[in-house]
Amino acid sequence: MDLFGLARPLLMALNPEQAHKMTLMALKAGLAPRQKGADDPRLAVRLWGHNFPNPVGLAAGFDKNAEVFAPMLGLGFGFVEIGSLTPRPQPGNPLPRLFRLPRDGAVINRLGFNNQGVEDAYGRLEKRLATAEGRDGLVGVNLGKNKDSEDAATDYGIGSDRLSAFADYLVVNVSSPNTPGLRALQSVSELNAIIDAVITNRKEGPKGGLPPILVKIAPDLGDEDRADLAAFAKERVEQGVIGGIIISNTTLARPETLIEKTVVSEAGGLSGKPLFQPSTEMLSEFYRETAGTVPLIGVGGIASGADAYAKIRAGASLVQLYSALIYQGPGLVGRIKQVMLALMRQDGFTRITTAIGADHN
Ligand code: FNR
Repeated sequence: MDLFGLARPLLMALNPEQAHKMTLMALKAGLAPRQKGADDPRLAVRLWGHNFPNPVGLAAGFDKNAEVFAPMLGLGFGFVEIGSLTPRPQPGNPLPRLFRLPRDGAVINRLGFNNQGVEDAYGRLEKRLATAEGRDGLVGVNLGKNKDSEDAATDYGIGSDRLSAFADYLVVNVSSPNTPGLRALQSVSELNAIIDAVITNRKEGPKGGLPPILVKIAPDLGDEDRADLAAFAKERVEQGVIGGIIISNTTLARPETLIEKTVVSEAGGLSGKPLFQPSTEMLSEFYRETAGTVPLIGVGGIASGADAYAKIRAGASLVQLYSALIYQGPGLVGRIKQVMLALMRQDGFTRITTAIGADHN
């Protein structure tokens, strides 16, 4: 049994936020397993001028304060997204604010962007760039806004100013359900103002060149908003203004099928298995509407190699996960990659990139 197998009963006995803190401590103490050897080259994806060794990334929210991205890369993730980070530190919502739904393979959170702010992350990221080893691996920086900020565009501009030099890509997160008014920023006019502010303040990334800007969206958008966003994304990618879209953040929906009835009524965003189908359908729809011209990161409910591969076939160039790690631990990453390779072989694909959007052929 691995270390996670031993620690799992303890972690599950703790409240979820304490368990997360313990996990971060263990990672910082160097207790995480390290992947042996390099990734199979058939899993490599070249995108935005970067060589992703494999398409499986860690989604935002696990490493909000940029403390453990190096050990998470060491586990075998192809890239890690830190944040969401806001200009000023903020405590987030009152506890409890994180809930497990074990039998649903799901999580509900209403953390509300608890984070130590961009200056704190700046210090840590600056140290990273000082060492050759620290410069290895691809790190995305996910930006949010402070709860009490009046001017969203200014907040995202500050994040870009302070952190883009450390970012292999930047994320404009306008889709967390736990900051009042944030999701209204998914309108095209608001997004244009935010993206302008991010571009105005953007610096060259750690590997040279300006980091691409991705927009992370919610799975709860109606048909009209989805169509507007798809048209916006297509145009803005063609113009070279943005790099792509991340689909999706957590959902406010509570599917009938959820088993953990005592927790379903908690306010917040639902992630994990119940999010797989709606987020993958949205991904597929975006790929179709944009005729495959917009690089997409597929996230939501990935708990196996088959799930990750299905997102790629639906149109994702890269995928991310978070909730399944809580239940399955770090061994999941390697298993996902193994199964993806087997499924590719079955379908006759010699490289993962040829499977991107294959459902639409
Ligand atoms: C998140 N997620 C998230 N997303 C984001 O853009 N900024 C954030 O700060 C957070 N924080 C966060 C905390 C917790 C506890 C969870 C479970 C999730 C959303 C996350 O990145 C992802 O989009 C969803 O969780 C869907 O993926 P999974 O968890 O179903 O694999």
